[in-house]
Amino acid sequence: MNERSAQDVAKEAAGRHAAGYVEPGMRVGLGTGSTVHWTIVELGERALDIVCTATSVQTHDLATSLGMTVVTPDEIGRLDIAIDGADEVAPGFDLTKGGGAAHTREKIVAAMADRFIVVVDESKLVPELGPFGIPLEVLDFAPGVVAAAVMALGAAEVTTRDRRSDNGNLIMDAHFGPIGDPVTLAAQLSAVPGLVEHGIFPGAMVERVVVAGTDATRELINQ
Ligand code: A5P
Repeated sequence: MNERSAQDVAKEAAGRHAAGYVEPGMRVGLGTGSTVHWTIVELGERALDIVCTATSVQTHDLATSLGMTVVTPDEIGRLDIAIDGADEVAPGFDLTKGGGAAHTREKIVAAMADRFIVVVDESKLVPELGPFGIPLEVLDFAPGVVAAAVMALGAAEVTTRDRRSDNGNLIMDAHFGPIGDPVTLAAQLSAVPGLVEHGIFPGAMVERVVVAGTDATRELINQ
């Protein structure tokens, strides 16, 4: 049998830990990825009386397979809490998300929530956003025009992934190098026509980050 990597063990620890913030009766946003996977598994095991909305088909299918109640964002309206992973976490709590191409739905769900809790392993903590690349969801009407506009904002390269989002749109990645002012860049990217959503999540959205390492799980609290 294959040994699990230390990173996989840490992801499970962070994901399961964050499930402790969910209480009976809550409306819960479920993120996407291999870390929040374990939050969903833990919630399924606890069989709490909660109503959820999901940020991807993958998460919807996992949650319903565990017997959880999953409805659309419109049906649930507001959320008490949302829990999700991240690809990068900077010291000011700004995030890069979208490694799994789900960042548009993830941003909608995070913005619906009173509390947004992020679950990561130590490898996601970075001094500045940027090395991962910034995921972009783009309409396929004029992807070259969108890519040129993103290059004009300072990206050295914009690449296109093979897979599309659950919304049927293209997924691109913009490589800016280290990003000194992610909030300003986020606003600039949001203003590009045809760019449906980008993967910069401003730190102001984040309540806390649950970080699991090889030995222990700790929390970074955004005060
Ligand atoms: C999905 O699009 C992403 O935003 C994920 O939340 C992010 O990639 C974290 O995924 P892992 O927990 O699998 O690293």
